[in-house]
Amino acid sequence: MDALNTTNHPRHLVKVDSLTLEEILRILDGADEFRDPTNGPSLLAGKLVCLMFFQPSTRTRLGFDVAVKRLGGDTTSLDGPKYEQGMGWSEPLEDLLRVVSDYCDVVVVRHPSTIALEHALPYSSAPVINAGSGREHHPTQALIDLYCIRSRMGHLTDLRIGMVGDLAGSRTARSFVQVLAHWAPAELRLMAPPGRSLDDSVTSAFGAGVVVRHPCLVPDDLDVLYVAELPNAPDSPPYDISLRAALGVTPARVTALPEHAIVLCPGPRLDEIDREVDGSHRAAYFAQSRDGLRVRMAVLAHLVKHCTNKAVQYSGRWGTMND
Ligand code: CP
Repeated sequence: MDALNTTNHPRHLVKVDSLTLEEILRILDGADEFRDPTNGPSLLAGKLVCLMFFQPSTRTRLGFDVAVKRLGGDTTSLDGPKYEQGMGWSEPLEDLLRVVSDYCDVVVVRHPSTIALEHALPYSSAPVINAGSGREHHPTQALIDLYCIRSRMGHLTDLRIGMVGDLAGSRTARSFVQVLAHWAPAELRLMAPPGRSLDDSVTSAFGAGVVVRHPCLVPDDLDVLYVAELPNAPDSPPYDISLRAALGVTPARVTALPEHAIVLCPGPRLDEIDREVDGSHRAAYFAQSRDGLRVRMAVLAHLVKHCTNKAVQYSGRWGTMND
């Protein structure tokens, strides 16, 4: 730790708790200003953002790539088969982060281990944005979920929110519930197979009677239905037809939602939502991924002021450059 910059710690976004409520609201309001992403201010002009993905991603990786470029910045990446297959793990993450943050102004990291990411953070001289770590954290997805709900419902308080799927295995579900604690839902209905719900430590911030648990999808009276993956992972219960019958999002179940309700899914959508649901006016999951771009632009705009200016003042053989 001797050579670390201890006087000028960069600002990181690792979990939803890294942000105050005021900052979250500023980001959501800021995202409104990027409704036309092609017309954003050049807030990242001259900035280079590194995308370090140790797990596959479509929305988050491409969303950050495009968001940076829409804000006038540029990206480079440390991903591809080598890192996604874990071959890069032989080099400690802290060493990688130390090297990369010396080259770039912001680092966006997706990693299978939250512990490894948190351990490596002090070695970064640039702000780090967590693009999904372990089973615990996906803060920018949680902000996107909030933004999508607020822009369609007009508010975030007093809603009946249902969450269905393998909630225990979902970092997006966990992050969403953690950030939702800033508001007071009328009900948080957790619909998951036995042993795959969120445990009490995640939901302890909610008042008595708010959290309701079911082993199957109960759509009645929900304002928002949040759909997580159904268990498929090697360490989850095996593929189970009856489980899909109990928890799958079918056209009939979506029709049973109130008229104004919305269906969200952080993606990727596999077999948890019937494709026929896509035609419903309640299906908001593709709009949600579209909203993701402006939310990520707002996150970058919020963090850019914490970037260390890596440009150097140069005077010598090639003349004078003052960046
Ligand atoms: N929601 C989400 O994280 O999607 P990707 O895995 O495609 O980034």
